[in-house]
Amino acid sequence: MAARLAQTTLDPDSFRAIAELAYRESGLTLADKKATMIQSRLRHRLRALGLPDFPSYCSYLKSDQGRQEHRHLISALTTNVSHFFRERHHFDTLRALVTQRLPALRAGASLRIWSAGCSNGQEPLSIAMTLLECAPDMHGLDLRILATDIDPKVIAFAKRGVYSDRLMEGVPTPLRARYFTHAICPETNEPGHAAGAQIRKLIRYNPLNLLAPWPMRGRFDAIFCRNVVIYFDLQTQCGLWPRMHQVLHRDGVLFLGHSERISPPEHFGFRVGEPTTYRPA
Ligand SMILES: C[S@@+](CC[C@H](N)C(=O)[O-])C[C@H]1O[C@@H](n2cnc3c(N)ncnc32)[C@H](O)[C@@H]1O
Repeated sequence: MAARLAQTTLDPDSFRAIAELAYRESGLTLADKKATMIQSRLRHRLRALGLPDFPSYCSYLKSDQGRQEHRHLISALTTNVSHFFRERHHFDTLRALVTQRLPALRAGASLRIWSAGCSNGQEPLSIAMTLLECAPDMHGLDLRILATDIDPKVIAFAKRGVYSDRLMEGVPTPLRARYFTHAICPETNEPGHAAGAQIRKLIRYNPLNLLAPWPMRGRFDAIFCRNVVIYFDLQTQCGLWPRMHQVLHRDGVLFLGHSERISPPEHFGFRVGEPTTYRPA
């Protein structure tokens, strides 16, 4: 069976059914040229479920008992690559924003940041370190980071907060010493680092599909939605911008990934700031 599965190919009808489901549920667009990648990512699901081929897998997805499998499917199809302090210039902009808000924060105002599509947690932890590095008294101020992702697997990883030394590369040595302790990665037994309480306590992790209704009340001072919409088609992206605008403070900032754009920004009530940085117009 295992040998047969290793050769199971993703037929065009199954590809179409999987692509439709992924689009409907998560906004992911799967181009035809991704078929081989999808085939190899999903073979382990067929193996886990004891299914002989992709048509059986698609029938299972459509069945009542297959509802649970949608989660695993989306998890297998999403790309979770991330790293600490990715696109460092965004963190410079964040530091400038926080520094400007310091008097208000010290007078009791709050600062709310959303990492939307946070993957394994490197992004919210980079945000947390940036905040705490802004001033010596940051610990006592009202700071909170919401970190969400559609994939419960990455949320579980992020909550554990243990990173192999390879994944720690982007963290400068002084920050490593201040905010992390040495640890062994639970799944791989590799040497690594565990995020400390100082930064972890600023972050709330929750699974959230960006296409579903958002339960959050209140607005954010900054939203990081980076390298997420690149997997969405234009229509899905255009549906997202007004919602982002609505939950962003009028003097807030929205960060996108280096190959993502709001086009045209003024159509959605934004103006371009620094590269891939948008502010309400
Ligand atoms: C490439 S990672 C980006 C991580 C981080 N923002 C960064 O830039 O390093 C993209 C993340 O978006 C998440 N994602 C994809 N579709 C989503 C959706 N519809 N709702 C919420 N998250 C989604 C994926 O699960 C994945 O973890």
